[in-house]
Amino acid sequence: MTARLCALTCIAAACLAGALPAHAAEELTLYTTREPGLIQPLITAFSTQSGVKVNTVFVKDGLLERVKAEGARSPADVLMTVDIGNLMDLVDGGVTQPVKSAALESAIPANLRGADGQWFSLSMRARVLYADKSLPLTSFRYEDLANPKYKGKVCIRAGQHPYNTALVASLIAHDGEAKAEQWLRGVKANLARKATGGDRDVARDILGGICDIGLANSYYVGQMKGSKEGSDARKWGDAIKVIRPTFANAKSGGTHVNISGAAVAKNAPNRANAVKLLEFLVSEPAQAFYAETNYEYPVRKGVALDSIIASSIGELKVDPLPITEIAKYRKQASALVDKVGFDQ
Ligand SMILES: [Fe+2]
Repeated sequence: MTARLCALTCIAAACLAGALPAHAAEELTLYTTREPGLIQPLITAFSTQSGVKVNTVFVKDGLLERVKAEGARSPADVLMTVDIGNLMDLVDGGVTQPVKSAALESAIPANLRGADGQWFSLSMRARVLYADKSLPLTSFRYEDLANPKYKGKVCIRAGQHPYNTALVASLIAHDGEAKAEQWLRGVKANLARKATGGDRDVARDILGGICDIGLANSYYVGQMKGSKEGSDARKWGDAIKVIRPTFANAKSGGTHVNISGAAVAKNAPNRANAVKLLEFLVSEPAQAFYAETNYEYPVRKGVALDSIIASSIGELKVDPLPITEIAKYRKQASALVDKVGFDQ
């Protein structure tokens, strides 16, 4: 736990010492697909501060199916996951409910939450360019990845991975479907190896001389560069420099982001506590924890970035296109990936 969260926990514990019985019956159930190591300290701090006991259920796969199957008797109050596609699936699947909260609305920019309060972003991750440190690159547009000058020099994970389908959906939103298809064909022609593996493998393969550039998520940069001196991950991280790409036709100069987020479950037995948890998660100390522990970008303004992220990637200028606008094209994006045989 960070010093900040710990301080919060300790102060809250002292304040609550006389007040616990009044809260004894307060609880909520959280269904989350996120790593226990990341979520548990946040939940502990919330419980200490609020007196609300949290029953955390770590759901690896099939979150929507599970909540659907449980129906009206579902104990779930808060549904938490990563990727806008997964959140929209929950909303479209009818297992969320609208929430109105001034605290959530002031902390989370409008393009990072559902207009109807059906879902809220809690943290962001940018899809950035990893490049061989020795390349004289200082800026990059996502469209450049398809430029024939990078033939045989590009590494990337599977096109069907949600991180990439969200990016392709974003390209459809910016450039239209025909150009997005052309882009996919161009990137495939530039691949140094099959589109497979994970995001960190892009850095590994840059170090190994297999490729020069590739797209991957921002938080892995923190994980790798923050690894123990001499470890493989540290060597991969030290082999790359990172550039925040932009879209060619957007004057905004913003970078594509995806999110982690949460929603209040449709049949939440403890609705008020569910809202309380979401409000806690966008509070300053909780947002700082997301930044420090998982190297994510806070959604709340004014929260400091992790120092590795700050020095190796820097402040994020988010593509202003509403993330729901991008999510609309995710099925189309997935179909395009198949159509061009990107992962074959
Ligand atoms: Fe990841």
